[in-house]
Amino acid sequence: MSGDLSVRFTGIEFDNPFLLSSAPPTESESNILRAFEAGWSGVVTKTIGLHPVVNVAGAKTRFLRAALDSPLITMKKILGALHSSWNWELISDKPLDWWIPRIERIKKAFPKKVLVASIMAGSGSDRELAHWQTLAKACQDAGADAFELNLSCPHMDRPDMGSNIGKDQQQISVVTQVVKEVAKVPIWAKLTPSTTDIVVEARAAFLGGADAISSSNTFTSLPLIDPETLEFEIQVDGLVSTGGLGGPAILPLSLAKMAQMTKAFPDKSFSGIGGIADFSHALSYFLLGCGTVQVCTAAMLDRAVGPNVIRGLIHGMREFLESNAHRGWKSLEDFRGIRRDRVVAQSEIRRPDASEYHGGHDAKGYAESFEKPAPAAAGGGK
Ligand SMILES: Cc1cc2nc3c(=O)[nH]c(=O)nc-3n(C[C@H](O)[C@H](O)[C@H](O)COP(=O)(O)O)c2cc1C
Repeated sequence: MSGDLSVRFTGIEFDNPFLLSSAPPTESESNILRAFEAGWSGVVTKTIGLHPVVNVAGAKTRFLRAALDSPLITMKKILGALHSSWNWELISDKPLDWWIPRIERIKKAFPKKVLVASIMAGSGSDRELAHWQTLAKACQDAGADAFELNLSCPHMDRPDMGSNIGKDQQQISVVTQVVKEVAKVPIWAKLTPSTTDIVVEARAAFLGGADAISSSNTFTSLPLIDPETLEFEIQVDGLVSTGGLGGPAILPLSLAKMAQMTKAFPDKSFSGIGGIADFSHALSYFLLGCGTVQVCTAAMLDRAVGPNVIRGLIHGMREFLESNAHRGWKSLEDFRGIRRDRVVAQSEIRRPDASEYHGGHDAKGYAESFEKPAPAAAGGGK
């Protein structure tokens, strides 16, 4: 099959637009090497911080399934369709010093593959902001091709970390600017979906100098409560905190966030994340304007680094290019963003009778119509 899968994104050459996102599939040297061998063009490392972290004393990630013959959704092992992943895992439990020699070795083994270093620090003081620069300088000196700023981890208590930075446009701009001061490689800002209008945060990241936005991280969520035990399906000593939802359940949610941003900034670069397991999912992100996509949950469930997932993505894209060759499409650039303008306001959607629709107001104004008595049911009704 013909067709060129390669893409240029934020100035970096990728042999295909498919990356593993920052998560367990990219938490170790051996995983990343296996991922490159399997065909992923790039990886975003599990988020690297300056200090070691300690995770909860229990399961960090579980998968929810939806029963096929009932409304049941559960983390218990049932025969059913994958609904989502749920996790409250913190960033890498290995500090910067552990990562540096590994980044060097990985880049030496696969110089043409792309290694994006995901980094995270606080932002509450100049000292904290300097940590971002320490992380960035060390990772780029070791050979990282780009940075992804983790402004989106949904389970950080500190008000100046993770998604708490991503909810504050000023902190987003400041952190991005601080990294930009020392960066010799592109900066991707990974935003949280847990805000009212993600266009505001995307603008702040671009103002700070971000070269791209990655979206989404997981959505803030709680596990369900087991109706028999009355305990949360994932908990430690009966206690739970909010965690992050990923996988199929967030695909449409994440697409909506992405559409908002790609419409607001049609000339900027976006890496789509959320619920991707095959090419049809990735295609939705591409048609909205994304130049790369990233995968986590589907890869975790496929031998830890997704060898079958990447095979399917590559095969799917080749087939897609082949079946659209008659349109003259040879690469992603030929169809990227062509459905972005189809996302419009409700009032722009055609009605069976346009004269009957007033966008939620009647011709004389909403308040007046609200006070009108309900019309008598035609023909006496029931
Ligand atoms: C167990 C787990 C750990 C994660 N750790 C990180 C992380 O360290 N840094 C980060 O930016 N995102 C992290 N993520 C979020 C993923 O990179 C990704 O944005 C999210 O899971 C949505 O993609 P998916 O629907 O393909 O899972 C994690 C996700 C999971 C499930």
